Amino acid sequence: MKRIGILTGGGDCPGLNAVIRAVFRRSEQFGYEVVGIKDGWKGMMEMNFETLNRQQVSGIHLFGGTILGTSRTNPFKTENGADIVAENMRKMDLYALIAVGGDDTLGVCSKLSKMGLNTVGVPKTIDNDLSATDVTFGYDTAVSIATECIDRLHTTAESHHRTLVVEIMGRHAGWITCASGIAGGADIILVPEEPFDIMWVCDVLKKRAARGKVFNIVAVSEGAKFSEAPGAEKSIVLQSAEKDAFGNVRLGGIANILAKEIEERTGFETRAVILGHLQRGGTPTASDRILATRFGVKAVDMVHEGRFGVMVALQGTKIVPVPLEEAVGKTKTLDMDLYETAKIFFG
Ligand code: F6P
Repeated sequence: MKRIGILTGGGDCPGLNAVIRAVFRRSEQFGYEVVGIKDGWKGMMEMNFETLNRQQVSGIHLFGGTILGTSRTNPFKTENGADIVAENMRKMDLYALIAVGGDDTLGVCSKLSKMGLNTVGVPKTIDNDLSATDVTFGYDTAVSIATECIDRLHTTAESHHRTLVVEIMGRHAGWITCASGIAGGADIILVPEEPFDIMWVCDVLKKRAARGKVFNIVAVSEGAKFSEAPGAEKSIVLQSAEKDAFGNVRLGGIANILAKEIEERTGFETRAVILGHLQRGGTPTASDRILATRFGVKAVDMVHEGRFGVMVALQGTKIVPVPLEEAVGKTKTLDMDLYETAKIFFG
């Protein structure tokens, strides 16, 4: 009986468990055994795994997170790390490895494939910033959560006649902010792709006030940038400049700075709300469950057909394989046509 390994790496995201279940169920049809590797590439390095059974995956598509755990471990940052992974794959008797992750996890998957390992990638991230796929699972859930939060902020903002600045995740791409901002009817949406002028933001809010609107909702991406940084240089706002194993800094905190600037410049009472990891937790939407399930099934089909070094992707209405090396290393930034549509409703 052939054994297939599956791991989930990087930030968790709603839909991961649906992929795990789908991989198990499709593998069962082909007579493959499925081994769950714990905590992403860390588990591959440490040979921390268990053979999955039907009971373990039953009904898990309803739940957020990942039953396998995750980490941001990068085998290429450890001496001989890639060789250790290759050796462990042999020791674990894995015919193929399915890695579910974002750009970092899939970048490792791509390099391992070039070393001759049988790997298949599945794209996940709430940020929707992966190239080669129209959309990633997790994004729809994050947009739904952020939209609900904006809806809730509206009622309190209006009651108190306040300006609320809501900070939304997405790293260097404004997808979640733009989509939830449109859906939630934010009065201004600020994204990383277009640095903003604080004077212009305040102007828009003042014009709203002149029209009798006594509250405002400003949706801002964690990676958005001031075109003229208050006080100093144009730069991104960091929670920590310390980099993870893939070279990512921790973004966050722009809402606090922006809220202070708005209050000082307009006199409007302003508060900041940082949604943070709330956007990644909880149950996936139906749409994410379906996409994750289709990805999981297709990933096993790729293994069955012996097509390795590919990532499964949604293109149009079809799930298709794309070469991993074409899919990684390029951030898919926000579609600026969508942002232009959002702008129609500013103010
Ligand atoms: O990539 C997903 C994401 O949630 C980003 O939107 C965010 O910047 C980052 O992960 C947060 O990472 P961590 O979970 O390590 O704080």
